[in-house]
Amino acid sequence: MIDIRSETLSDYTAIAEVNRLAFGQENEAKLVEKIRNSDRYISELSLVAEVENIVVGHILFSYIDLVGEETLQVLGLAPLAVHPQFQRQGIGSALIKAGLEIAEAKKEAIVIVLGHPHFYTRFGFQPSVVYEIESPFPVPEEFFMVKPLQKYQKQYKGKVVYAAAFDEV
Ligand SMILES: CC(C)(COP(=O)(O)OP(=O)(O)OC[C@H]1O[C@@H](n2cnc3c(N)ncnc32)[C@H](O)[C@@H]1OP(=O)(O)O)[C@@H](O)C(=O)NCCC(=O)NCCS
Repeated sequence: MIDIRSETLSDYTAIAEVNRLAFGQENEAKLVEKIRNSDRYISELSLVAEVENIVVGHILFSYIDLVGEETLQVLGLAPLAVHPQFQRQGIGSALIKAGLEIAEAKKEAIVIVLGHPHFYTRFGFQPSVVYEIESPFPVPEEFFMVKPLQKYQKQYKGKVVYAAAFDEV
């Protein structure tokens, strides 16, 4: 059984460890800490997945800017990490779905992710170019994706600008 809930202070160490193990480096664990200490952090959208009361997965959505005619705040999904021994059991998918539900409930308009299209398209993510949204990264366009939510409107277009916390990732 997987239990998904928002993070609390006592999860911080376990979240860092899951990110370290999943990515095999420190960068993502540090990113989580930096976002947590910034005005881009949304506590209810830092979610942990627990199996038998042990944190085995984590997902973070935080605010990033979409700069077009005006600058709009949108959600960026990063990072997503599942403990290597618990991968391919549906935990990552469950975290994404839970996060998207909360984002809908918060009346957010879109979610942006840089990741593998094979994985993210199943949740309704499409290449950002479809929505005239430009990536700040020099990556093939199918890797930079957006998921429009119910509140999506056509003015959500332009170039994505990540918060300074992302600079070193
Ligand atoms: C990517 C990740 C979050 C997926 O979580 P998960 O709980 O294993 O995923 P689920 O069981 O819900 O879904 C399975 C899908 O995840 C992807 N996946 C899982 N493990 C993977 C791996 N080691 N390599 C590549 N893709 C993987 C596959 O697309 C798989 O789909 P498939 O079975 O149809 O091939 C997890 O593997 C992970 O933490 N990886 C390391 C960190 C990382 O790359 N994070 C993604 C940042 S965008």
